[in-house]
Amino acid sequence: MTTTIGIIGAGHLIKHMMPAMAKTGSRFLVSERGRETSAQLAMEFGVEVSPDNQSIVDQSDIVIVAVRPFDAAEICDGLTFADGQTVLSLCAGLPSSELAPVVAPAHLVMAMPVVAAQFSESPTLMFPENPKCRALLESCGPVLALKQEDSFAPAATIACYYGWVQELISQMSDWVSAQGVDPEVARLLTAQMTRAAATTVRERPATPTSQLVSELATPRSFTLKGLEVLHEADAFTPWKRAADALLRAD
Ligand SMILES: NC(=O)c1ccc[n+]([C@@H]2O[C@H](COP(=O)([O-])OP(=O)(O)OC[C@H]3O[C@@H](n4cnc5c(N)ncnc54)[C@H](OP(=O)(O)O)[C@@H]3O)[C@@H](O)[C@H]2O)c1
Repeated sequence: MTTTIGIIGAGHLIKHMMPAMAKTGSRFLVSERGRETSAQLAMEFGVEVSPDNQSIVDQSDIVIVAVRPFDAAEICDGLTFADGQTVLSLCAGLPSSELAPVVAPAHLVMAMPVVAAQFSESPTLMFPENPKCRALLESCGPVLALKQEDSFAPAATIACYYGWVQELISQMSDWVSAQGVDPEVARLLTAQMTRAAATTVRERPATPTSQLVSELATPRSFTLKGLEVLHEADAFTPWKRAADALLRAD
């Protein structure tokens, strides 16, 4: 039987998830708000657009909530959910204690994808494990289910790290092109080097990441020389401070 997925909140994130999710062969019902995006999704992926959120909920096995976090509880409170339904919240920083009561008796699942879903490369956090949501989210990239809800907020900060790394790529590729390298080469080289570093970390799980670094940063190596400059400037502490700031934000 075809699974019906309802989407409340067709914005920036959903625009990037739909190319992957559409490949699951599910039926998609999308809220009309965010008119430009919903019209584009209807044209590109044949999703059905409705101005009536309750009608979307009534027809769906899974209801994705992708409105802005501060709107979500109020919007869901105005809707009636059914037993046996699953609500998949993608809203950053919104704990289950705020959303679960207003979507009851539906079962709440939380997930945190990033826009690399467009290329089926979003590492997506999920809590709790849910096979139906997993099947949907795996179209967007690897799904990592957490065992405890209190891990969700700290782990979700890494969805913002995704953006911070893009800023680092931007800064470093600008530096390379400022040395006279073709900007297109500089951009692709820096992006692919970042990806290569990540692939090695992913593919060698038995090796501590600190050891991967020390294998490169051998005495008198250029890698070590650069790392000494970075450590002298305490370059990594601000990254942890940035993550702390998100975790403590209301
Ligand atoms: N963007 C990301 O990379 C990303 C990553 C992970 C998680 N998230 C989370 O995903 C959620 C959406 O983020 P976003 O960046 O996609 O935001 P967005 O572009 O602002 O999209 C939100 C959408 O919700 C619509 N909306 C507002 N009220 C509605 C209602 N009553 N019924 C139906 N739709 C309604 C808005 O329509 P109008 O424009 O007409 O108001 C808009 O199209 C947020 O909670 C965010 O924390 C985003």
